[in-house]
Amino acid sequence: MNTASTPTGTAYQKNILGLQLPTDPRWVDLAGISLEDILTDHAWCEQKAATSGISLVQRYSHLPELVAELAPIVSEEWGHFRLVLAELKRRNLVLGKQRKDEYVNGLLTFEAKGGSPEDRLLDKLLVFALIEARSCERFKRLSEGLDDEYLQKFYRRFMESEAGHYRTFIDLARLYVAEDKVWARWQQWLQFEAGLVQGLEVRGDRMH
Ligand SMILES: [Fe+2]
Ligand SMILES: [Fe+2]
Repeated sequence: MNTASTPTGTAYQKNILGLQLPTDPRWVDLAGISLEDILTDHAWCEQKAATSGISLVQRYSHLPELVAELAPIVSEEWGHFRLVLAELKRRNLVLGKQRKDEYVNGLLTFEAKGGSPEDRLLDKLLVFALIEARSCERFKRLSEGLDDEYLQKFYRRFMESEAGHYRTFIDLARLYVAEDKVWARWQQWLQFEAGLVQGLEVRGDRMH
């Protein structure tokens, strides 16, 4: 990637939203076998996306653009949660327990803890963008790799929605923080995320 010049919006869209490491191809086969676990894990991911979005609004209530963009995203994430719940019900399954999220917890260790308020805001927005990007990539794998037309469509809907959320978080970062700083930090996040994903066991019972 070209880090020397100022990036354009489309530079953030390359290679499935910039991700440096594609998901292990074994994952979609394993996920297809443990669909009940995947649905449960997916439901909790949507719940976390909604509640984390609310926390961001609470923390940055002085930023009107952020609040305006986040309010509908929170509704959408909760709508996603309900869609997955409905799918569980359709299959006579119940929402299982929430698991420890090694992926998200791993990402949070890379977040700027000190630094300026701007640095912290930038990292918050980029963590959200990254989780959206990886989720979008996983939904793409499911929508293309599962052997069931209904599920292909089901996951495609999430894929498209999360891609839109990814763009919103990147755009917000670029609104509040200088372009070159966003780009440089985004490259660091992408690299860190690739290392994290590489170190996690490939399991079919979780989205990440
Ligand atoms: Fe979602
Ligand atoms: Fe999302």
